[in-house]
Amino acid sequence: MVIYDSNKRVFKLDTDNTSYVMGVTEEGYLGNIYYGKKVDTTDLVYAMRTGEYPFTPSVLPGEKISFMDKFPMEYPFDGTGDFHANCINIRNSAGQEGLELKVESHNIYAEKRKLDSMPSARGEGTMSLDIVLSDKVLGAEVILTYTVYEECDIITRSVKVVNVSNNAFYITKVLSACLNLETEVSDILSLHGAWARERHIQRSRINYGSYVTESLRGEPGHQDSPFIALLSENCNNEAGDVYAMNLVYSGNFTARVQKDHFGRVRASIGINPGRFCWKLGSGDAFEAPEVIMQYTCEGTNGMTRNFHDFFRKYILPSKWVDAEKPVLINNWEATYFDFDDEKLVQIAEEASRLGIEMLVMDDGWFGHRNSDNNSLGDWYVNEEKLKGGLKKLVDRVNALGMKFGIWFEPEMVSPDSDLYREHPDWILALDGREPGLCRTQYVLDLSRQEVVDYVYGMIYKVLKSANIEYVKWDMNRPIAEAASLPLPADRQGEVTHRHVLAVYQLQERLTRDFPDLLLENCSGGGARFDAGMLYYSPQIWCSDNADPIERLMIQEGTHLVYPLSTTGTHVADSPNHANGRITPFSTRADVALAGTFGYELDVTRIAKEEREMIPAQIETYKKYRHLIQTGDYYRIASFRENGRYDSYMVVSKDKDKAVLVYVQVVTDSNVLTKKLKLYGLCPGKKYIVDGAEYLGSTLMNVGYIMKPLRGDCQSVVIEINCAE
Ligand code: GLA
Repeated sequence: MVIYDSNKRVFKLDTDNTSYVMGVTEEGYLGNIYYGKKVDTTDLVYAMRTGEYPFTPSVLPGEKISFMDKFPMEYPFDGTGDFHANCINIRNSAGQEGLELKVESHNIYAEKRKLDSMPSARGEGTMSLDIVLSDKVLGAEVILTYTVYEECDIITRSVKVVNVSNNAFYITKVLSACLNLETEVSDILSLHGAWARERHIQRSRINYGSYVTESLRGEPGHQDSPFIALLSENCNNEAGDVYAMNLVYSGNFTARVQKDHFGRVRASIGINPGRFCWKLGSGDAFEAPEVIMQYTCEGTNGMTRNFHDFFRKYILPSKWVDAEKPVLINNWEATYFDFDDEKLVQIAEEASRLGIEMLVMDDGWFGHRNSDNNSLGDWYVNEEKLKGGLKKLVDRVNALGMKFGIWFEPEMVSPDSDLYREHPDWILALDGREPGLCRTQYVLDLSRQEVVDYVYGMIYKVLKSANIEYVKWDMNRPIAEAASLPLPADRQGEVTHRHVLAVYQLQERLTRDFPDLLLENCSGGGARFDAGMLYYSPQIWCSDNADPIERLMIQEGTHLVYPLSTTGTHVADSPNHANGRITPFSTRADVALAGTFGYELDVTRIAKEEREMIPAQIETYKKYRHLIQTGDYYRIASFRENGRYDSYMVVSKDKDKAVLVYVQVVTDSNVLTKKLKLYGLCPGKKYIVDGAEYLGSTLMNVGYIMKPLRGDCQSVVIEINCAE
């Protein structure tokens, strides 16, 4: 529900359990009043504290700058007195930066408008609010849009800048959202990592000064994630306040938390202003990406449930949310570049016998690619490797009853490729400098529409040539030199954002032209795991590291925000190719249940006893697939925190069924076995666990006592069923 109280000049946005409140001051500034548990009144202007300021501009005009220093501005602007981390700045044609935004008008409406240039959440059954702020001197209008998703306790926000003047101006910063809080929060939750170690959770104190998590790599990167949450001091899995923001964007982002000299905390998120400057011509508009924002008092598990429900209902491609995605086998770690049609068919034959449903042919099928040194951009089949061509191979795999999927890396080109030899100017490069290579590849200049069209044409042709039902879309290097040859000097700051928009355009075209195609995004593992990519692909390859113990931490961080079904989780070799850890085959499969299950090894070469375990593993996955795709996820214990064991569970929405996963990473001798307090069950219902009957309240309050496991890296998957 969205309310405007015109007497008090207060906007109130209500979800089922929360309220978000803004007020307009006498001077026309838009202030952030309150965010938290639902309140039933608009009598909240006092909480904006303007009465406390002797220096309110209408009372003491000489103190406007002091006012700017203290006022909880809803969408703070730069260059006219707000010295805090703010959200927007604009440079005029004279080169001067600064603006001042005041409320002009507003509009409350039922049909959410989607962003034109970027993915944004669907909005069936929602209410939205546009607040138009304006700067009359610049001729700039800034439209703040809020959409209320009542049942998920989520509010989305986005920002649009319109140039209503006769001159072009330059947007040098345009973030998507900001929150002003006081003593409600004391901690920051964010996600950090590296290649093969993505999205580990970090909890840190909010201290005076600024904390920033960000990327300037042209994608979110392995290192940081476009997510931030602020927590109350006592916040844990089950209870405590959480304020969270997740950006629907796949490029350079920044998320900042600043505690100022008054102890006030301001958190903001949006496109990174570093390497960004957008020229906005007269009459033109610029859209900043959407933010998914929430407050919950139900701790981090509560935040996770709200995000998961929201992603499933409003972000992921609807077609795939409840669909049964095939169990796949990917040949990357099985063969790397060393394969031909016969080898792939051998793998497929064995895989189909074991119950695997799709073969994915990874990197190395095109141009003359036998290593990562060449051929990106030459998206035509290497017939020396795949004799008789792609269709013949796909038909042979299909004849085994298996689907077929293929790998592309469309944003890149190798120096040793026909494409680069023909169009050396189609890459991002700085004038007069040797462009930097990474994995022996350049980034294509996707700010040029002819390059985008060319790349799309190549992909289209391959996909039309055979019965290809899945694409893995990879991006294996960051963008370093964000410079384009044909763009004019005053538009060079647009390059990285234009790259992201082009990727969205490509994936939009792909999913429109091939509506049944299952798209899995990837970026050297999980360097581009964000809501923008999930809008097109219902799953993303989570990490190049499939070691189940490392995966406990990667998946814990990823599932903090994103639903389990969105993570590509595969059973791979042991010793693990990324970190050398040796683990049991059963543990690898148990950990891979928490995602979109598959295999990443040579089934023709693994030990016979492991191969024979595969049909039962697939059966187990299929048994829980629906529950994992649709249920509520609860984190019980974290190996990252305790250094010994990990546990989580998924409970069906009707609370009749659950699955509990427990991994004993390090064994302890002669200790009590673990007692786990379960979550999410119905207190009064009886449940059967491992043959014994318990009340839901018993399992949740007294706990479930695990059977002893022997040895390191051992796991168990426990089924919980309602007895009635
Ligand atoms: C990236 C991906 C891998 C694989 C290779 C192929 O690293 O994450 O899964 O596709 O590229 O080059």
